[in-house]
Amino acid sequence: MELPPANRLEKLPPYLFADLRRKIAAKKAQGIKIISLGIGDPDLPTPQPIIDELIRSVVNPDDADRHRYGCDCPVADLPASIKGFYRRRYGVELDDSQIAVTSGSKDAIVQFCLGLLNPGDLGIAPQPGYPTYNIGHVFCSANTYYVPLRQSNGWLLDFREIPPETAQQAKLLWINYPNNPTTATAPLEFFRQAVEFGRRHNILICHDSAYSENTYDGYKSPSILEVPGAADAAVEFYSLSKGFSMTGWRAGCVVGNPAAIKALRLVKDNVDNGMLRAIQFAAAKALDNLETLTPPINAVYRRRRDLVVETLGQAGWPVEIPKATIYVWAPTPEKYRGSSAAFAEDLLEKAGVVVTPGRGYGVPGDGYYRISLTYPDAVIAEALERIRKLAGK
Ligand code: MLT
Repeated sequence: MELPPANRLEKLPPYLFADLRRKIAAKKAQGIKIISLGIGDPDLPTPQPIIDELIRSVVNPDDADRHRYGCDCPVADLPASIKGFYRRRYGVELDDSQIAVTSGSKDAIVQFCLGLLNPGDLGIAPQPGYPTYNIGHVFCSANTYYVPLRQSNGWLLDFREIPPETAQQAKLLWINYPNNPTTATAPLEFFRQAVEFGRRHNILICHDSAYSENTYDGYKSPSILEVPGAADAAVEFYSLSKGFSMTGWRAGCVVGNPAAIKALRLVKDNVDNGMLRAIQFAAAKALDNLETLTPPINAVYRRRRDLVVETLGQAGWPVEIPKATIYVWAPTPEKYRGSSAAFAEDLLEKAGVVVTPGRGYGVPGDGYYRISLTYPDAVIAEALERIRKLAGK
């Protein structure tokens, strides 16, 4: 049967990691041993207390409630834990109308767009940046205006780069700090400017804080909701994926502007029936114990980060030491003249190593490549050795 897919799928850019996965599979099929430092998908196990909570839910026959739809009658524990987390961590008080429990952030970004954007609407997204912001727009037949992030501005979005007519038209603006892929962090003052910009132009500021728990050397990332009045002008996407090694669990939340939260909840009620309640209890356990569960995970990433930074430095390619995220964002070696795609291609072909080319996050990401720290130390060490050899160091 001839079955052409919906036209909107043609507007989707090739999914960055699907492309990398295909290349890896092709090499493996040729019998070549590939080392991937591509996707940021934690190799470390989910902490035991979270797993224990899930086991308790699935083996306890008296607790059938934990197996039911998560949306029409959400468990109280998770929103209570989200409130407790925002209170302890940021001094921010949330009420129920400001919280939507989500299946991670990626799904939530697209569902959020479905709740707010009409065909032809405009959203503003950073480049380099997480591709899903634009993908959310595409699913709504909305458009994306890209603002370049620049190294000279510490990879912080400069609001002055948004033309007045774009600001006038746009409905959403996406920001993301600690930032993927650049690893940049933003001070509270930046979030103040974002809120002020959003208010002035009637644009909802959407802050993706997926990496807020992956921080090092005493650094604590702020929440946009710490800015007075931000819970009206902004929403924040929080995810348990990277901080608690829970990518596959699909657990997160969106908090902030009540009208936006209401729209997202309505989409969720009609699309996914919410998160399995057993996972909601486990996610609550994670948030309640953040202070003890995340430091051991971050200690491992910190060690790997130092290994990468030191080795690249010894090879004559100094990189900035990231204060946060699970990545190192490194300039492409000189001999590739800033073409991250050519470097990544050569690295795969000649050294069997996969890194993520900065170009995959948009043209302003070219000249950089991203190494993910979510691989065992020995794997990272071997990959670095191969990178050094390829670059003739
Ligand atoms: C990444 O490698 O950028 C992330 O794993 C992608 C994601 O969070 O969806």
